[in-house]
Amino acid sequence: QNVAVILPAAGSGRRFGQDENKLFARLAGHPIWLVAAERLRAHRRVARIVMPISDQDRPRFEGEFGSQVDTLGIELACGGAERTDSVRAGVERVADDTAVQLIAIHDAARPLVRNADLDAVFAKADQTGAAILATPVTATVKQSLDAGASCRTVDRSTLWLAQTPQVFALDVLQRAYAKHRGRPATDDAELVGRIGVQVALVPGSPDNLKITHPNDLIVAEAILKTQHE
Ligand code: C5P
Repeated sequence: QNVAVILPAAGSGRRFGQDENKLFARLAGHPIWLVAAERLRAHRRVARIVMPISDQDRPRFEGEFGSQVDTLGIELACGGAERTDSVRAGVERVADDTAVQLIAIHDAARPLVRNADLDAVFAKADQTGAAILATPVTATVKQSLDAGASCRTVDRSTLWLAQTPQVFALDVLQRAYAKHRGRPATDDAELVGRIGVQVALVPGSPDNLKITHPNDLIVAEAILKTQHE
């Protein structure tokens, strides 16, 4: 057991269209964050799970869900305004843990990640120091020109959609966050790329979708059924 997981959960429900954090919405009767946390906890290499949460949600995680948090051994941390602020809080929490070789950052909003995909991305990060799950782009992608007056087709053969977990050697991620000065980044692989470290792509599964809009929950319920078959 030498993988520490950071499970950022400090977002809001803005795009999901609810007042409360979307991660409290139910997937097959369980909150989304809990389904994600259980999957990570079930992996044999996971030693710790640090979950950055917002101040606003802390009473619910400690009260209503306190027993699940304790049972899974989840360490709550203080999330921040941007996702990178939340991840940084998690990195700081595990920085001095000499037993940790890899840090896996996984969105609590991706509840359906498969154990075999965790195996694959951890193994690749063991070899390279930086690896992420991703799926090839299957859509036809257009680049808008002249504000949509015309467009061109983008060659999709080299394009991939980034997922999480994004997995890094502890020192690599620490260096990336030490250099990060607020220039926006949409994922951790981008920050690691900026310090000149190559990030390997590990083919994942479309099952590992991120719950963003309410319709994603409907799809996730259907996927969950097929995973149990
Ligand atoms: O909003 P989105 O689903 O893309 O966010 C990805 C993950 O990052 C979610 O699990 C969300 O809770 C988390 N997050 C965070 N802190 C923020 C923003 C997002 O932990 N400030």
